[in-house]
Amino acid sequence: MIVFIIGFMGSGKSTIGKKVSQMMNLNFVDLDKHIENNENKTITALFEYEGEDHFRTIEQNYLKELIKKDNLIIATGGGTPCYKNNMALMKKSGITLYLKMPVKAIFDRLTNSKNPRPLIRNKSKEELTEYITQTLEDREVFYSQANVIIDAININLNLLQQIIEHHQIYSTK
Ligand code: S3P
Repeated sequence: MIVFIIGFMGSGKSTIGKKVSQMMNLNFVDLDKHIENNENKTITALFEYEGEDHFRTIEQNYLKELIKKDNLIIATGGGTPCYKNNMALMKKSGITLYLKMPVKAIFDRLTNSKNPRPLIRNKSKEELTEYITQTLEDREVFYSQANVIIDAININLNLLQQIIEHHQIYSTK
């Protein structure tokens, strides 16, 4: 079974995914890092030189490759579930966990993050608030299709582990 961690940029997908994978002795893949390592380019460079459409195409290609594996936790990119048929692909291949976080918390985390993100580069504070509010609203349609929605602010890792184990028992994947 594969566990997909989805949610907006800055909601803690990689950190939480890594921690839970260690607790459960599962392999962990951060989709963005996996793309960067395999393409030998940063996400920023991919956006800048080849454009977002190309990024979304290779993002889906790598997702499809990873889906063939098993016993894996994947932290997706913030946009992954919202493009092509990725959400349906993920739901067919395992369980999807949405780390839900309010706009203000996302804003604070993104403004303190050292991780470069091409979609929010050069935005003023006002522009960033506006971007997060609007994009989160648009993406919620996809995120809310997740099997489990988790409060990313008050996260309890033991509970998360139990939820995954519960799904493992009942999942045929
Ligand atoms: C994106 C989120 C990023 C990365 C790319 C696009 C998005 O991942 O995939 O910059 O569309 O929200 P993180 O959510 O890990 O920052």
